[in-house]
Amino acid sequence: MRVNAEAPEPDLIDRAAELLRLGGLVAFPTETVYGLGANAFDTDAVAGIFKAKGRPANNPLIVHVADAESAMHLASNWPDAAATLAERFWPGPLTLVLPRTSAVPDIVTGGGGTVALRSPAHPVARALLERTGFPLAAPSANLSEHLSPTTAEHVLQDLDGHIAMVLDSGATSGGIESTVLALSGPVPVLLRPGLISHTEIEAVIGPIVRMQVQSDSTTPAPSPGMNARHYAPRALLQISESSPELVTALVGSGERVGWLALHTAAVVVDNSGGSRRLVIVQMPQNAAGYASALYARLHELDALGVTRIVVDNLPESEEWMAIRDRLSRASTH
Ligand code: TXA
Ligand code: MG
Repeated sequence: MRVNAEAPEPDLIDRAAELLRLGGLVAFPTETVYGLGANAFDTDAVAGIFKAKGRPANNPLIVHVADAESAMHLASNWPDAAATLAERFWPGPLTLVLPRTSAVPDIVTGGGGTVALRSPAHPVARALLERTGFPLAAPSANLSEHLSPTTAEHVLQDLDGHIAMVLDSGATSGGIESTVLALSGPVPVLLRPGLISHTEIEAVIGPIVRMQVQSDSTTPAPSPGMNARHYAPRALLQISESSPELVTALVGSGERVGWLALHTAAVVVDNSGGSRRLVIVQMPQNAAGYASALYARLHELDALGVTRIVVDNLPESEEWMAIRDRLSRASTH
């Protein structure tokens, strides 16, 4: 259903809320990516999320709430850091992991003792939370290990026929998933970099610890969804410091290549020989623009059937951290 992004039509929100009340799955836009929502208190509905996505049962879901007040009912401890961060960044793309109360069903947390909480800023998500009156468990609305969806079309590509409804308000603005910060241990730990940066968080609560991406599986994951291989397109993706040479070589060896170019390079590639073997995508040169476009461009390259994706190396600066994180996961095979 098409819904107005700034001023969602109340009758459409009512219909979506009714489906959720009945135990249905409704995909909805957030300011980051589309989420696949279910009533977080309805264990059968939440089981439906795991089934529709093919998601391992030990990978916990983010619970979306209207505000900090609602979050406090789900967390058994609400430290000062949570209060300050919620005050500063909610509603918005920051997820806080806290010890949970018994109000949160086991299935939502993967059986663990913590719960991930986030109050989204998107008007459609907010209208839905206000109308239902219950929290929404909502992972990204894609099949497990696929790219996250930034449009309703992406949602339907993966989940059509398995969900009750998609609220379609066009492309999401943020483009990559929320920052996930654990406040459940002795020190705050950044589990997933995102649109709210490390520095922005430290400016509010002081030093936090950055969890490294684990590319091997010998160490148990503190956050099961943080497997290195994640957020990946179908084509083999490589980050390169010498893209023109790599692209030229790949095209020469018969690959169909998509190139996410950051630097406007002098391109010397023989693109003759009938079928179009190279698609060059000029990416925005600022981090926010790049993040917003990234998954949509990767979805398009997959749809074009490229066999290889080459990505220009990204700046080392902190504002690019979340994007480097997603691309390094996408490039692990
Ligand atoms: O921007 C977002 O966060 C989007 C929108 C829809 O809100 N949601 C999203 O959800 O990306 P999902 O399920 O695709 O990713 C949630 C991540 C997973 O890596 C999961 O393992 C982690 O958060 N997570 C959830 N609950 C956790 C917990 N209790 N402890 C540690 N990590 C947790
Ligand atoms: Mg996801």
